[in-house]
Amino acid sequence: MPTSELGLDKPLAALGISEAAQVTARFAEIRALFDSQSATVHDDSQWKTFRDTWLGRKSGVLAQITDNWLKPATPGLKRAVGASLNELRAHVESQIEARRLAIESGAEESALARERVDLSLPGVTRPIGSHHLIRQVFQQIEDIFVSIGFSVVEGPEIETPYYNFEALNIPEFHPVRDDMDTFYIDLPKGAPTPLLLRTHTSPMQIRTMEKQKPPVRVIVPGKVYRRDNPDATHSFAFHQVEGLAVDTDITFCDFTGTIEYFVKQFFGPGVNTRFRPSYFPFTEPSVEFDVSCIFCGGSGTAASGVTCAKCKGAGWIELFGAGMVDPAVYGFVNYDAKKVNGFAFGMGMDRLAMLKYGIDDIQVFFQNDVRFLRQFP
Ligand code: FA5
Repeated sequence: MPTSELGLDKPLAALGISEAAQVTARFAEIRALFDSQSATVHDDSQWKTFRDTWLGRKSGVLAQITDNWLKPATPGLKRAVGASLNELRAHVESQIEARRLAIESGAEESALARERVDLSLPGVTRPIGSHHLIRQVFQQIEDIFVSIGFSVVEGPEIETPYYNFEALNIPEFHPVRDDMDTFYIDLPKGAPTPLLLRTHTSPMQIRTMEKQKPPVRVIVPGKVYRRDNPDATHSFAFHQVEGLAVDTDITFCDFTGTIEYFVKQFFGPGVNTRFRPSYFPFTEPSVEFDVSCIFCGGSGTAASGVTCAKCKGAGWIELFGAGMVDPAVYGFVNYDAKKVNGFAFGMGMDRLAMLKYGIDDIQVFFQNDVRFLRQFP
């Protein structure tokens, strides 16, 4: 029954109530109604409405009983109405307070339940990355050279033409510059020197010798850039490891011995190697270093009987350029060319990685496809 049907807006006489027993019965009904409403109050906003319905100053149930039933009651009924009203008020007030406390502690409990940390739940798995294959390959190269007395240095990727070309005995109009076309940086007018992205790690030969007197034994890993069109074995950004050893008694045999030692350590003892004459302006004599093709075992023929596509039937794959340092280079770093000699090499790290791991497209190194990366944890 809604409270509007209790007849609160009318005096008792109009409701036909003239005896104390009727008053008691009517208050019992009201109390039952209050109790049933109270059981439906579960949250803060329901509680406020409930409280106003019963205790509201002007139109609350108790206020209406006071104004419409108690005040106009006949002297014979006043006592009974007053007593029943007091009893009802005490009940209503205590119950409304009890509901408030119950709702508050319930809210607290559910908030606590929401925030509770369940230590038995499985943790959030954060995938741990791994070193890129190129980085792993460099670490292998580094371990081999460090174990025979080389140290590691690094240098700038943005270079001056002096370090990238001139000090390496490549003057401005030397045709070899055409093989290493590169990217130049846009500089403000009046800049002291053009700047370019280095085309090889060889400028670090010069920077190292400028800083340090012989003996020098360094390797230099790093990114290099060329205006090469991308294909399976070419990228416009790739990685090299430069090597430089200069001392007073370094021979061509030291050079070939070092390189052969490195290659056997890196690829394993089964691989065959060879030197071919070549040309670099900063080494004399210069060589290209080849390894027997790991894909066809050096036969030039693939397992299917057709010509090996990787070495194109040659049985050999070119690995890198190298040579004895050209005495002209010593002139740029104030070394006495009559007293010192040494060797240098520049390996393409991406190509070494491709050969060692049987990767047939250099582009996969730069695509960051996790299906590729995950194969080299
Ligand atoms: C040089 O860069 C010389 N600085 C190497 C050198 C150092 C010779 C010291 C003598 C003494 P070259 O241009 O051949 O040489 O490049 C060296 C290696 O880099 C190549 O053998 C190849 O493995 C790799 N390479 C060259 N161009 C690319 C390219 N576009 N993408 C991927 N690898 C490349």
